[in-house]
Formats: sequence, structure tokens, C-alpha cells
Amino acid sequence: MIKITDKTKKIIERDKKVFLTTTRSPYPFIADHGDGDFAYDVEGNKFLDFTSFISVYNFGVDSLPESRAEAKAQIDKLMHAAFLDFHAELPVEFAELLIKQFPKGFGKVFLSNSGTEAIEAALKIANVITHKPYVIAYYNAFHGRTKGSLTLTNTKLVQREYFGPFQNAVHVPYPYCYRCPFKQTYPECGFTCIDYIKEFPLKKEISPKETAAFFVEPVQGEGGYIVPPKDYFKELKKMLDDKGILLISDEVQAGYMRTGEFLALDNFKVTADIYSMAKAIGAGLPLGATIVSKKLGDIPAGSHANTFGGNLVSVAAGYAQLKYVNSNKEKLRQSIKMKSAYALERLGQMKERFECIGDIRGLGLMLAIEFVKNKRSKEPDKKIRDMIIMKCFNKGLLLLGAGESTIRLIPNLNISKDNLEKGLNIIEESIEELLSKNKK
Ligand SMILES: Cc1ncc(COP(=O)(O)O)c(C=O)c1O
Repeated sequence: MIKITDKTKKIIERDKKVFLTTTRSPYPFIADHGDGDFAYDVEGNKFLDFTSFISVYNFGVDSLPESRAEAKAQIDKLMHAAFLDFHAELPVEFAELLIKQFPKGFGKVFLSNSGTEAIEAALKIANVITHKPYVIAYYNAFHGRTKGSLTLTNTKLVQREYFGPFQNAVHVPYPYCYRCPFKQTYPECGFTCIDYIKEFPLKKEISPKETAAFFVEPVQGEGGYIVPPKDYFKELKKMLDDKGILLISDEVQAGYMRTGEFLALDNFKVTADIYSMAKAIGAGLPLGATIVSKKLGDIPAGSHANTFGGNLVSVAAGYAQLKYVNSNKEKLRQSIKMKSAYALERLGQMKERFECIGDIRGLGLMLAIEFVKNKRSKEPDKKIRDMIIMKCFNKGLLLLGAGESTIRLIPNLNISKDNLEKGLNIIEESIEELLSKNKK
């Protein structure tokens, strides 16, 4: 059982005094250190981590030993090389290996420090290359919070309220089949959601001639870990090619092997024109990358840049991790596939057992449980979701929500089968205890 004392409470009080309010986890966890599948707080409590600290630690809460060693060595050598103004070899080596993970014909890389910057870059690159101002994104999308990417983001109203006007994006429904906005069923629907984009936004609101790109999350992350049907992106890409609109894949959360493939969009056998990556790519340090298809050409010098992109310490950590991924890709693929199948089977059994689980879904180790008041009404049950997260915390499992009433499960991609089972047992036990308490 987890023990929280005044030490934690006092740090949280001090934190509240000095920091502007941001979204924080609902439980009192003060990070101290990490070790593989586990995170430790300042009280000495040990937690099994199913959050990867928001999709960053894809290989354990202490990152890979080689990333730590390379970052430490780089600190002693040179930390900052002003890479987007001067030159340095390490980011070149990193980009060369990064491009190798992409389909043939890729390309050129732009380096930054975060997901929102990797998206801002994609947005500006699409604009400057096509000379078109408009873009399309989904409802419930999350692409970052700076003003360009916020044009695309709309998971919650509070993210946008008072920050407008947002003029250059239209939003369309994500293929969320469990709650189809068109009240259709896949595959009989024949993708009404794609027909809608053709028939409405692209006929009534923005001209395809002026539309630079469509931003997609291959698995919608913050919006609820939603997985589109297998053929969806193929159909979408056909439509976009037909209209001369670029496809931009936001791989910030779903990319970097999380779904079992280096690129989440690869699960759908579709190639985008531009990809944005961040979070896990820096192995725990801030790093973002925007990767552009060669056929799109280049951007004019001076049209986009930053100070810290290609920071040598971040790149040293990221490059060591990328070498590990590159040499172990098939092994990782197989092990993620095996663990994913096991987890989905367990989650499926929980769904059968508990009326409050409306849907379970996922790709690779990007998994989710959606909670509802009952299976028939499908009314989202945020309250029970939040209570389960708290209960799991008290039993030593770190979890995070997504969407309105979903829990996301994103453990270390190298998690042991035992620890995966342990985490799933804690979730099952917690639901069981909450439901029996509610009955009394
Ligand atoms: C899909 C996606 N894109 C972009 C971002 C923004 O990344 P950052 O918080 O590093 O700016 C996030 C963050 O959660 C994300 O999930």
C-alpha cells in the first residue's frame, strides 16, 4: 500500500504558490527516480508505471543506459552548438539514421525541442511549400498548445477559449466507430466520414485549391486513444491525393514503436507527406523532429528556424536510443505484438465482466479502456474512470486518463510479461472493489 505523508503535501503546497496552474495528475505523486518498469516518489513508494510519463519513456523510467551515458559524455564535451546556425556532426548522424526508419523517398529533417514545435514546423512547411493557407484537422485532436498548433487542437474548449481567432483550420469528425457521429456501423458505412469531408468542408468552407494539408493522429491520443478502422487512412489518402492536399501524420504520441511499428501510420499501410515526432524520440530529453518527403523539396532559408533545435545533449540521448531501436526493431515488433495481444485479451475479459467498460482498444502498447454508465446507453462515466485511477495509484500503479472517460495504458515497451500482468491485475481488482463498494 502506498503511503503519502506531509512531505508530499508540503511540496504540492509550495508548487501551487510558485507555478501558474497547469493540468496535473489527480494523484499526489512527486517523482524522485526511475528504474525500468518502475517509478519511485520522494516518499520511497514504488509504482509500476503505465504512463511512460506522458509517452516519453518508451524504454523505462530511467531511459536506456546508453542514452544516459551518451548524454553525460556530451555534457562534458559541448552542450549547445547552435545547430540551426552553425554545423555539428552528431545531429547529421542522427538525422541520417532517422531517415532510414522512414519509407523510401524521405527526405529532409527539421529539428526542434517539443511536439508543438514539430507540428508548428509541419504547418509552416506545408504552407510555404504549397503556398496554400488552409488546413484540416479533427475534432478532439491534440497537436500542441502554441498558437499555430492550437489552431488544430480542440480536445477541450478550455484549450482554445480566449486564444482565438483561429482562421486557417476546419475540423471534421475522427473515425470513432464506438461513438460514430454519423450513427453508422463500419464497414457497412463505406466511410460516410470521408464522404462528409468531400461534400461539406471541401465544398462549402475551404477550397481544395487553397488547402495545404490534413493533420492526422494515426491513433487519436489525448482525445481518447481511438483507433480508426484498418482501411480508413488508405481511403482518406486517396481522397487527399485526388484533391492535391498533403497528409501530415502527427506521430508525437503514437510514433516511435509505441504501436509496434516505428511509425503508427505504418499500421495502416499508408505513407504521409510530412511526419512530426517528439516525446519518446529524445529518450527523456526535449527533442522534436519534422520529417519531409523528398518530393516536396525544400523551404526558403530563413523561413523557419530556432535556437535549440538539434541540441547536442538531447540528440546524443536520442541517437543512442535510435541505434538501439534500429538494431532491435524486429525483436521489439514481435515482443510488443505478443504483449499487446495478451493485454487486449485480458482487457476483453474485463469488458465482458464489467458493465462499466464500454470499449477496449489499442494498437501495440498504446491501449485504452473506456468507461460508461452502462453498455447500452454508452454514457461516458468520468467519475468511475477517475476513481479507478486513484484506486490504482493507492495500489502502486500509475495511470493517466484520456478523452472524456478513458484510461490509457502505455507501459515501457520492454515491460516484463510479469509486470504487465501485475498492472492489469491491479486494474481488474480496483474495478471489482469499486463496483462491490458501490453495491453496498
Ligand atoms: C499527438 C500529439 N501531438 C503534439 C503534442 C504536443 O507535444 P508537446 O507537449 O511536446 O508540445 C502532443 C502532446 O501530448 C500529442 O499527444
